[in-house]
Parts: sequence; structure tokens; C-alpha cells
Amino acid sequence: MNNRTLVLVKPDAMERGLLGEIISRLERKGLRIIAGEIRTIGRDVAELHYAEHKGKPFYEELVSFITRSTLMAMVVEGPDDTWHIVRNMMGATNPADAAPGTIRGDLACLLTENLIHGSDSAESAEREIALFFPEYSAP
Ligand code: RTP
Ligand code: MG
Repeated sequence: MNNRTLVLVKPDAMERGLLGEIISRLERKGLRIIAGEIRTIGRDVAELHYAEHKGKPFYEELVSFITRSTLMAMVVEGPDDTWHIVRNMMGATNPADAAPGTIRGDLACLLTENLIHGSDSAESAEREIALFFPEYSAP
């Protein structure tokens, strides 16, 4: 299903009290949160989620960051290619380069603490929804 994507409100955003701000932006855009849970993920889930980055110099730091405290995982639904809409709302990976008006551009400064994850393709969305919310994965 191409109209759903996985969003993680990352530990830094939770620690800074930005969960409401981020949810509010998604809702004001016209997207719907159809599933969500605050959880602390373990190394096992973090490794599966960020498998594409295994072996890169920043991998260990990334895994310890995403597991360091609670995050909020959610399934976000909208029109076709909702993953693309959310990626545009997030802004560039490095908040220093992210445009004003985007979540990272408005609310963050550091590459390693960039507040939000969103699936980067329809295929990633399917894989990540299956990892976090198997009950919402495509039949
Ligand atoms: P995410 O997966 O977390 O939504 O972020 P993204 O797609 O925008 O960026 P991605 O390339 O998937 O990288 C995942 C996270 O790794 C950190 N990173 N550090 N030191 C570095 O060169 C570097 N590159 C990426 C970032 O925190 C990024 O969100
Ligand atoms: Mg990514």
C-alpha cells in the first residue's frame, strides 16, 4: 500500500518535548495518524531498521542514539506517495542544510539529532511498517 508511511519521532524530539509539534504539523498538512506507540527500541530492532547503514562510520552512534530513550513510532496515512510528502516536510538529513519551514529546518541544528525519521521510498515504507506495526502491513 503506497499511501502509508512509517514515521519515528526520534529520542531527541521526545526529550525536547516536540512530539506535539511534530504530530500537529503532520495533521495540519492533512495526513492521518492511524497507529502509534511510544516505545524504547532495542538494538535488535534498531539494526533491522537501519540495516542499510551497517558498516558506515556513523552506524554505531546512530544505533545508540535511536535506542537511548523513548521514541514514538507511527503509521501515517494520506494520498499516494505519502512517504514523499513526509520526507519533504522533514527537510534535508542535515538540519544545517534543511530549508526553513521544514521540521528539521525549523527545529534542529545537528545531523546526529535530527528529530524525525520517515521512510524514503514506497518499498522502505512497506518494510518499516512490517517491522514496527506488522498488523498494518500490506496483505
Ligand atoms: P532517517 O533514516 O533517520 O530518517 O534519516 P535520513 O533518511 O534523512 O538519512 P539517512 O541517510 O538514512 O541516515 C540515517 C541517519 O544517520 C545519521 N547520519 N549521520 N555522520 C554522517 O555522515 C551521517 N549521515 C547520516 C543521521 O542522523 C541520519 O538521520
Ligand atoms: Mg533514512
